[in-house]
Amino acid sequence: MSFKLQPLPPARLNRCQLFGPGSNAVLFEKMAKSAADVINIDLEDSVAPSDKDKARALTIEAINDVDWGNKHLSVRINGLDTPHWYRDVVDLLEKAGDRLDQIMIPKAGNASDIYAVDALVTSVEAAKGRKKPIAFEAIIETAAGLAHVEEIAAASPRMQALSLGAADYAASMGMQTTGIGGTQANYYMLPDGDGERPRHLVDPWHAVTVAIVSACRTHGLLPVDGPFGDFSDEEGFRAQARRSATLGMVGKWAIHPKQIALANEVFSPSEAQLTEAREILAAMAEATASGQGAVVYKGRLVDIASIKQAEVIVNQAEMISG
Ligand code: COA
Ligand code: MG
Repeated sequence: MSFKLQPLPPARLNRCQLFGPGSNAVLFEKMAKSAADVINIDLEDSVAPSDKDKARALTIEAINDVDWGNKHLSVRINGLDTPHWYRDVVDLLEKAGDRLDQIMIPKAGNASDIYAVDALVTSVEAAKGRKKPIAFEAIIETAAGLAHVEEIAAASPRMQALSLGAADYAASMGMQTTGIGGTQANYYMLPDGDGERPRHLVDPWHAVTVAIVSACRTHGLLPVDGPFGDFSDEEGFRAQARRSATLGMVGKWAIHPKQIALANEVFSPSEAQLTEAREILAAMAEATASGQGAVVYKGRLVDIASIKQAEVIVNQAEMISG
């Protein structure tokens, strides 16, 4: 281990982040009653430019009036290249009560973007005597966001999470796709040879996912997979979510209620995973007691690193059971 220890991320569940447009007030009660851990009311790209003022007002009313239970309540503000974002921040901080937990900053390109929002938030918080500091989550969804992902993660003590925004990311990178996340039919490899050469699909989101996970783990943030646009394709959602979970992400957005249970399922350890993790911890406890650093569990090596891997699963299960 480096002399600098890896900081722990915020100790809260983030398996599913449910989105809904701030302009669609019919959805707020439904979102609050859902099984999502995090609620993201959107003021950005799901709200038409002509609806921005109305969406902001409805969102503030909902933050104050709806019973959000124990959900982590977040609002996605407009991008820093728009005339809307400063009003989003000022009105949210001046008019929404302490129930608001987080502001989500879209299309973050560098640490200065986070700094700018931090300066404004800090000033309004002080002026209004707000007791609870607002947390930040940023979306990595541009070429600059990927290039500067680590400085974005480190930009403010308010930072709690980074999400991957697949659609804007694809557009910014000039990728040849109009899909929002998931498999891309033209991204494949072929085996060598002259016989039948079945296509092997590979994951075009792999590099940016790993970059986000690495930046988050380095700075104690939660790495989150973003939207999967085709909400009729449950197996497609599962496959995308399982790849993200395998690479270390803790959750995924839902852009339709159908996707909530899927995200919760994939990002909660299964009974089998939990049993195995507990057995590995027990085997290692026995090994340590008898002065061994490594033992055989079900025919394979487990050692001190296995303790940390098993603890990731056990800790997550304990957080879920509360
Ligand atoms: N949160 C909570 N409930 C939702 C919901 C959401 N995001 N989206 C739909 N519902 C509700 C509907 O109101 C409906 O409820 P009902 O059974 O009581 O009538 C039910 O779920 C089924 O909805 P459905 O008819 O299948 O979808 P729709 O046509 O009403 O809406 C979308 C589809 C995609 C427009 C809508 O889900 C949506 O706005 N999603 C979020 C988009 C977003 O925020 N994007 C930004 C991030 S990428
Ligand atoms: Mg986006």
